[in-house]
Amino acid sequence: MDASASAITLAGVGKRYGERVALDALSLQVRRGEVFGLLGPNGAGKTTTMHIAAGLLAADCGSVRVLGGDPRDPKVRQRCGIAPQKLSLYEDLSGRENLDFFAQTFGLRGAHRRERVAAALRFVALEDRQHDRVATYSGGMQRRLNIAAAIVHEPALVLLDEPTVGVDPQSRNAIFDNVLALKHAGHTVLYTTHYMEEAERLCDRIAIVDQGRVLAMGTLDDLLRAHGGDARLSVERAGHNEFLHGDDPLQLLAAELAKGPVDAFQLRRPSLEQVFLALTGRQLRDEA
Ligand SMILES: Nc1ncnc2c1ncn2[C@@H]1O[C@H](COP(=O)(O)OP(=O)(O)O)[C@@H](O)[C@H]1O
Ligand SMILES: [Mg+2]
Repeated sequence: MDASASAITLAGVGKRYGERVALDALSLQVRRGEVFGLLGPNGAGKTTTMHIAAGLLAADCGSVRVLGGDPRDPKVRQRCGIAPQKLSLYEDLSGRENLDFFAQTFGLRGAHRRERVAAALRFVALEDRQHDRVATYSGGMQRRLNIAAAIVHEPALVLLDEPTVGVDPQSRNAIFDNVLALKHAGHTVLYTTHYMEEAERLCDRIAIVDQGRVLAMGTLDDLLRAHGGDARLSVERAGHNEFLHGDDPLQLLAAELAKGPVDAFQLRRPSLEQVFLALTGRQLRDEA
């Protein structure tokens, strides 16, 4: 990829915490203007990757380029905004005071700072509660404020680390809208999740990570085509179920219908869950 088209390029990045290997020669490229998903189970290395890309943590080895520079360089950091998985908010301050604080640390001053704080509150629909202490906010509201703090200085690159964990469905939908609005406004978004539905719904491209490595990277279609296996059709006839595999399930169904009446059928398309299973031999979800 042309260097100017790349927002993040990680090549052979390694990171250990003592004896524990968190990243093991991890490589990926995030293009400018896309929503890129890091999808993997707990402990895969998503947060570590994100902290390295945000310049909060140094890699032990490998090369890290963010927005054409080194993410440890303050000029690059100024153009990145991270909403950490562990909320970084001051509970005893109001939502507005929190954003004002973060805006100050990014060097915003005077009327511009006030405008940006107001815009960030509007973006996450927290204007009504802006003067209340964060301790009184619901989990979903705190997550949304965490996102507002990440975007208050209008960074080119926004890093959202599991932004929907522990939020109510309404806030979750609001967060999805926020991600798409950021993309449409021209920001690049790196998004981590262990929910495959989120990666499917939001991300232009996805990297599947496990044990500190990228196992596969591409669009949802790329991943499904390469690793998803065939679509499966189950056909019920006179109380008897038959399971069929094939790359053209409609043709399979037509052939079944030609044989005689069908009481019911179910079509299961390949999913990211199957991709993960094919790549690792394990389910993506803990509970599955
Ligand atoms: N500060 C730390 N000290 C020791 N081990 C850590 C630390 N942070 C993360 N790890 C370990 O590194 C691995 C990757 O963690 P992390 O990047 O948080 O993964 P994820 O975000 O995908 O859950 C895990 O095995 C985790 O236990
Ligand atoms: Mg994490």
